[in-house]
Amino acid sequence: MKLATTQIHRGQLLHFHDDPSSNPEAGVYIDDAALVVTEGHVEALGKAADILPRYDAEVPVLHHRNALLVPGFVDCHVHYPQYNIIAAYGTQLLDWLNNHTFPEEQKFGDATYASKIAELFLDELLANGTTTAMVFGTVHPQSVDAFFEAATRRNLRMICGKVMMNRNAPAALCDTTESSVSDSETLIKRWHGKDRLSYAITPRFAPTSTKEQLIGAAELHARHPGTHIHTHLAENQDECAWVKELFPESRSYVDVYKQYGLLGKRSVFAHAIYLDKADWRAMQETDSAIAHCPTSNLFIGSGLFDLQSAQQHNLRVGLGTDVGGGDSFSILRTINEAYKIQQLQGNNLDPFYSLYMATLGGAKALNLDQQIGNFEIGKEADFIVLDLKSTDLMTRRIESCQTLAEKLFVLQMLGDERSVRQTWVMGSATTSSGI
Ligand code: GUN
Ligand code: ZN
Repeated sequence: MKLATTQIHRGQLLHFHDDPSSNPEAGVYIDDAALVVTEGHVEALGKAADILPRYDAEVPVLHHRNALLVPGFVDCHVHYPQYNIIAAYGTQLLDWLNNHTFPEEQKFGDATYASKIAELFLDELLANGTTTAMVFGTVHPQSVDAFFEAATRRNLRMICGKVMMNRNAPAALCDTTESSVSDSETLIKRWHGKDRLSYAITPRFAPTSTKEQLIGAAELHARHPGTHIHTHLAENQDECAWVKELFPESRSYVDVYKQYGLLGKRSVFAHAIYLDKADWRAMQETDSAIAHCPTSNLFIGSGLFDLQSAQQHNLRVGLGTDVGGGDSFSILRTINEAYKIQQLQGNNLDPFYSLYMATLGGAKALNLDQQIGNFEIGKEADFIVLDLKSTDLMTRRIESCQTLAEKLFVLQMLGDERSVRQTWVMGSATTSSGI
């Protein structure tokens, strides 16, 4: 008989059962917690003084000192094939796509190159404490095979999909409506629901798809309703003007996706900066989710996300790094920029709400909150150990903090991958694959 593997993690712990902006009881902080993990899942959680006496002395207890245990970060929008073009100088979205993104993405027809980048990308995510992500591949089906193979070798919960793109891009990166649907369907059958993986039907954005391809994507989702839909929306003003020209029959950018059947509970839209009142209502009526990508919105100069409108419409919002449009893999850096984007609009972003967006809020946006996002009993034990003394500056600054909210805020503003002491996936410590 196989003996259950149990480990106990002891330390300060913070997680959420609900949205702290609408439910003041949503957050749970335990100063000296014991988190019991058995066979990769949360078995128990409580005060160490209550939990520890219930377990045999042989059960290992890992004491994480000067640290905060939180659920693994969720990155709701990121492009693994853009690993090598992060931090490209001098352009905004449409030129950036033509000058940097499209040339690089052409390399992913080569499965060996795709595998190499997938490994580097996952190393980087884990070093930054991100344990789940919704990820763009390229137009090449082999880019998705390479990503899922790498993710499943590490037992990660990941979502990915092949880009569908049949116009306004280099010929080498274009598919057709028919090939995009049949290639995506083959990938769905191969990967969706295998281990911890799920498939996202991924039309790149309205300008690179004909209406027939968008309809094909929606029909494919209707045939496979457990899959996700993942695309970009209203990120940049020139892009929005282009969508008006390309889809004169639609009232707005959101309306393009609405008309062709792509809004819905399993759809995640990156950016969503330029929306009007009717657009917000359409997003709310369809329970569509948003990936807010602050580092990208600042780095490629796209604009300021209206988080208040998203909250007023009860939309699910997670955070996305949007690498390579975003210039950092770090969700802590992403929270830092999210704070500044709200400052520029006269709002204060609450540090508990930021951590919620990075964990349970992201899991809800991806419809993965039954599996991940907090430490409820039975959930998958993906979590991170954040070092409250990760730099001399942080150590000194946190010493002067009076409240948990202050400490958390300083961690978010001064933190980056140096603050991620360990990343645990399904109860196991992660290491680089070494490839
Ligand atoms: N819109 C269409 N493609 C992309 C992309 O690769 N990155 C970003 N940020 N926006 C896009
Ligand atoms: Zn993107």
